[in-house]
Parts: sequence; C-alpha cells; structure tokens
Amino acid sequence: MANIDPWAFAASYLDPPPYEPEWLRPNPDPNFKGEPSRLYVDTDSGLTFIRDRARPKQRPPEGSFFIWCVLAGRGFGKSRTGAGWIDYVARQKCVPGEQVLIAGRTPADVRDYALLGKGGLLTNYPDIQYEPSKRLLTWPNKVTALIRSGANPEEFRGFSGQYAWIEELAAWQYPDECWSNLMLGMREKDPRICITTTPKPIPLLRMIMKLPNTIIIKGSSFENAPNLAKSWVENVLNPLKGTRKGRQEVYAELLEDVEGALWRLLTDPETGIPGIDALRTPYKSKLPTLVRTVVGVDPQGVKKDGSMTGIVVAGIDANGRGYVIKDASINGTPGEWGKRVIKMYHRYQADRIVVEKNYGGDMVESTLRTIEKNIPITLVNASGGKIIRAEPVAALYEQFKVLHHGILTKLEDEMIFYEGDGNSPNRLDALVWALTDLMLKKRKRGGTWGTRSKFVKR
Ligand SMILES: Nc1ncnc2c1ncn2[C@@H]1O[C@H](COP(=O)(O)OP(=O)(O)OP(=O)(O)O)[C@@H](O)[C@H]1O
Ligand SMILES: [Mg+2]
Repeated sequence: MANIDPWAFAASYLDPPPYEPEWLRPNPDPNFKGEPSRLYVDTDSGLTFIRDRARPKQRPPEGSFFIWCVLAGRGFGKSRTGAGWIDYVARQKCVPGEQVLIAGRTPADVRDYALLGKGGLLTNYPDIQYEPSKRLLTWPNKVTALIRSGANPEEFRGFSGQYAWIEELAAWQYPDECWSNLMLGMREKDPRICITTTPKPIPLLRMIMKLPNTIIIKGSSFENAPNLAKSWVENVLNPLKGTRKGRQEVYAELLEDVEGALWRLLTDPETGIPGIDALRTPYKSKLPTLVRTVVGVDPQGVKKDGSMTGIVVAGIDANGRGYVIKDASINGTPGEWGKRVIKMYHRYQADRIVVEKNYGGDMVESTLRTIEKNIPITLVNASGGKIIRAEPVAALYEQFKVLHHGILTKLEDEMIFYEGDGNSPNRLDALVWALTDLMLKKRKRGGTWGTRSKFVKR
C-alpha cells in the first residue's frame, strides 16, 4: 500500500483507464507483434489483417450516430461485431448498475448465437456472468444486460437505457411491435443501437435505413472467409454465388422481390398484387374458427445437412379463406419427422395429414402408422413440376384468399426465392400440399359419407 499514490488512485477510480480490448486494436497494424499465424492477406483489398481483431467494417463508427446497421451476409461476423460493441459500451461507456439490452429472433437464438455461438458475447468475453433463468448478464463492473426476443414485444416494455444490440432483426416475428416498444425505452443520455442482420426488405428495416442518424455498413460473407471453415465456404457459400438467394444471404443485397418467383414479400406498387406481408392476420389476433385443418408433409429421403422434411399446418374458415398456421419443418430421421407430424396433427386438431409419396410411398405411410395406427392420411403423387403445382396456390394469394398467422420466415423465404430449380424447397412443397387439399380439391359436398364428415365443424 505504501507505494500507491492516493491522487493517482482517486483519479483512476473517478476516471477509469480506457478499456482497450484486443478486438478493437488497430487492424491492419504495421506494428503488430503478436503470433504471426494470426496474419492473413485479404484477397480483395490486398491488406494484411489480424485475426480476432475487428476488420474496419466491424468497428463501431466514429462520431455520433443513433443506429449502426450492419447488413451483411451469413458468416460475415455480424454476431462477433455486435458482441464486441456491446461489450465495449458496457465496460467503457456505462456506469455501474446501468442496463443495456440484447435482443434476437427468439430466446433460443439469442442464447445459441448472440451469447454462446463462436462469435457470441460469452464465448469471447467469458468473464461476463450469465443467469439464464433471469435472462440477465452481468459484467464485472456491475453493468447488466437484459435479454429479449423478437417473439415477444411485451418484453421490451420496462427497459430504459442507452445501448441496445439487435440481432437478425429482419427475421423477427414481430419486428414492428418490438421496435416501437424499444424506442420508448431508448431515452437515456446518448442512445445508440447496433443492428446486425442479414437483410430482407421488411418495411421496418427499410424505414430504419432511411433515418438521418443511421449509419449503414454492408458486407459480404466472403470478407470473413479466412475465418470460416473451408468446407462451409465450399458447400454452403459457393453454391449460392450467382443466385438470387445468394445476393441476399451472401452479399446482403436488399432484394425487393425475386423476378420469376411465384410469391412476393411486398405488394407490387404497379399491379397491386399483394405481397405476403400484406396477407397476415393482425398481431395477437386469434384465428377464426376453422372448418378444416390439415398437416401438409414433404418427407426427406435421409437425414443429412441441408435436407428437410417440410411440415406445414393450414386451415380454412367458413368463408373459404385459408390460413397458414405453423411451419414445423424439421431435418430428421423418419422416426423424428413422423413424431413431429403426429404431434402437429393433435396440437392443431387437424382433420388429415396430406403427405407426398414421391419416394417410397409405403414407407412414408408406415412411418406415420407405426407411431399412430388409425390416423387419416392422404398420399399425394408429385407428378408434374413443382412450379406447376405451386402456381394455383400462388394465385389464391393474389386473390387475398390466404393469410399467414404471424411471420413464418423460413417458409416465406422459400416462397419468395423459389424459381423452379436448385435445391428442393420442402417447406414450400408442404405448404402447397396443404393448401391444395384445403382449397383446390373438388369436394362433393353432401355426397359420400367420407367427404361430408370433413366439413363438419369440430
Ligand atoms: N475479425 C474476425 N477475426 C477472426 N474471426 C472472426 C472475425 N469476425 C468473425 N470471426 C469468426 O467468424 C465466425 C462467424 O462469425 P459470426 O458468427 O459472428 O458471423 P455471423 O455473420 O453472425 O454468422 P451467421 O450469419 O451464421 O449469424 C465466428 O467463428 C467468429 O468468431
Ligand atoms: Mg450471427
């Protein structure tokens, strides 16, 4: 104790030394003295970058801004960017006891990607304490972070602070409602928000991008390629090059709509053809009474990466309007997807399971019957092209005859991106089977016993 200068001690307490994490040190850095294996040459710019330091696009902007919007492709390092920023502001800009906010698509997504993923906050700053049950983080300086999700707008009420990190906003279920509640809370000294997301042309994002105090940074997945698994780059990123989907998911272009696709996200201003965004049940509204509900299934061959069994639940009301209620698709073994299908059948009190039998028809049926013997199944044949099957269903949307109950992001992505070739969109196929059965199949009302019973309200 004898050697401590009391004035220096008091000064450091009142004005703590700046926090200089490795992440925010200069990059490139000609004076770099660390491990040489951390250096790599960026092929586009020719610059020598240092691994595990923010590349220039990952650094918080200098000067004042309200929203810093990082729109970048898959694997760009978006989560790492947001994690580095929120950690910096929590340690350097906040006073003890101050609260920041971290929000992602769902509670599980925040945990798995924003916190515990490779680019996540806890992975890179392990001295932060995490209390999952309270959905709370605490930094050593007693600054805390509330964890919230785009699945529950009410949770944003009650937060009041300066800093928020918003992950994958374009994929949230209730972006508008969450955002307006968040805005009410961003009322302390110098509020700042960092949004890290792969973009989609949702109205909220387009509005945010136009705000005068928004700084937009765009990046492609390939900018982070040296820090990604080679096999992921080869098997996932490379095949997306040159596709419309790749323009959004890899190059982060804000595609308004896909030419040649059967569905649009936004209403066409010229023709007035409604986009899926205009065809949703209002937030928090209940479904009307459905007179018939089915589970559409497009089974996968085997469980493997990139494969999927499409499972979509849809129903129809007394006025003949269709409702897409749930996308429960899963990458699973026959036993796994079979169980999920039967679970959906019971949960939504469905009348029938409509399942594609293009491969091993018997196997598909027996998979389901092994789990539950007396279940009503219709096997459908996938003859003709996918586009030909999907077109009449798309026409129902154009006539405002189908509504989505909430936002079904992954299914809707397949709907707006499918151009007729490439990977098989199983969610879309399951949707087409369900809606075809509900809305396009000719039924003999009052005819045979079998068909009549289907119209009896449950
Ligand atoms: N500057 C960097 N130096 C070294 N590694 C990095 C850097 N930026 C990101 N990474 C690493 O690259 C990987 C991908 O980063 P991250 O998960 O943040 O990307 P993402 O854009 O959020 O991906 P996704 O689209 O899957 O959400 C992680 O392992 C992360 O640690
Ligand atoms: Mg991420």
